[in-house]
Amino acid sequence: MPAAATDAFWMPFTANRDFRKKPRIITGASGHYYTASDGSKLYDTFSGLWTSGAGHCHPKIVEAVQKQVATLDFSMTFQVSNDKAFALAERVTKMAPEGFTQCFFTNSGSESVDTALKIALAYHRARGEGQRTRLIGRERGYHGVNFGGMSVGGIVPNRKAFSANLIPGVDHIRHTMDLAHTAYSRGQPEWGAHLADDLERLAGLHGGENIAAVIVEPVAGSTGILPPPVGYLERLREICDRHGILLIFDEVITAFGRLGKPFAPQRFGVVPDIITTAKGLTNGVIPMGAVLVQDKVFEAFMQGPPLAIELFHGYTYSGHPVAAAAGLAALEAYESEGIFEQSAALEPLFEDMLHSFADHERVIDVRNCGLMGAIELAPRDGAPGARGIEVHKRCFWDEHLVIRNGMDVLQFSPFLNAKADELERAFEGVRRVIDAID
Ligand SMILES: Cc1ncc(COP(=O)(O)O)c(C=O)c1O
Repeated sequence: MPAAATDAFWMPFTANRDFRKKPRIITGASGHYYTASDGSKLYDTFSGLWTSGAGHCHPKIVEAVQKQVATLDFSMTFQVSNDKAFALAERVTKMAPEGFTQCFFTNSGSESVDTALKIALAYHRARGEGQRTRLIGRERGYHGVNFGGMSVGGIVPNRKAFSANLIPGVDHIRHTMDLAHTAYSRGQPEWGAHLADDLERLAGLHGGENIAAVIVEPVAGSTGILPPPVGYLERLREICDRHGILLIFDEVITAFGRLGKPFAPQRFGVVPDIITTAKGLTNGVIPMGAVLVQDKVFEAFMQGPPLAIELFHGYTYSGHPVAAAAGLAALEAYESEGIFEQSAALEPLFEDMLHSFADHERVIDVRNCGLMGAIELAPRDGAPGARGIEVHKRCFWDEHLVIRNGMDVLQFSPFLNAKADELERAFEGVRRVIDAID
């Protein structure tokens, strides 16, 4: 029997023993604030976990979920389907860049990534290029925690314990951060487009005709916000085109307004072949992800006997009606409330707030793109990460702020409709904490 109320939940990506000494427990949320178990109100600087851009417990989404769960709680989508899944697929593909006509539903970002990798492999096979089995990721990339995503991912601690069992045939290009060249860049760094040429090198090494796909986050998020250097994504696209390699954008974080547009291609002007999403699809209310593919990818599968199942893949909850109802209400709210426009309008101010930390003695870099931002602290001697977690805890207890740290990188993902004065107050709190720690 667990000794305390908090002893049975093995928390993900958390130092469980440390957490249980003084648990930080949320019991409610409304708009931009959480309520903690001691009754205090906390401002959320991370909009959930990059999930809840339009604010917590959005009334329209809550209402849609309540209605749907009482109307159709579940129906399978294998051979039979529900109306909401079709409606959501239609709505998402309308919002997507031109050419993305198809949408495959999953339950999370990790599942979206593994689905996208499987679609890429099966696509080439369907076209008679079954030798294209190699997958390319990027160092420091985060593509979730399933075996495919972990294998193409490049965050070292996430891979280490599983290193002998990662999927074979994967290689990585280098990441794009080098503080000597990129530190304190506002938005996309000027330096680094040449790093895309790593893909050309790997095409030479393995044979471009053997590579199925390359997957990148258009702006790397969980590793600590690495915006793409100017010209970098364009170069990746060119190399993919030259060798017939599919380009996958992992937009689990960036889709649905985080970059001021529905999707990254609408900001950067570079269009991939496959897009993975999750989080913002339902504003975080119900777990759901979606993989969007260009029409040509879908069409390649539609060539066999008419009664044949084209893709042997799917989840019990692919297109779950309650999740789909949440997604429909979220997308409706994003459009009717101008959430993406609000996100774009807030970006310059958010950038200024972040960069006001640039000359702080404990800060070694500030990075931002869209409403994704990072303040990187110098690590304590011999204790990397200690400063970051201390700031996180002190923000929670002393300043009533939820902020995220990845080691010593403080990460910010404000609400897409955050109010400027509340965000300013939040950063004042963060500054008091950084001033106070050693
Ligand atoms: C880019 C990216 N891909 C995949 C994932 C995995 O998503 P999930 O945690 O929903 O499985 C994440 C999660 O943060 C992500 O940021």
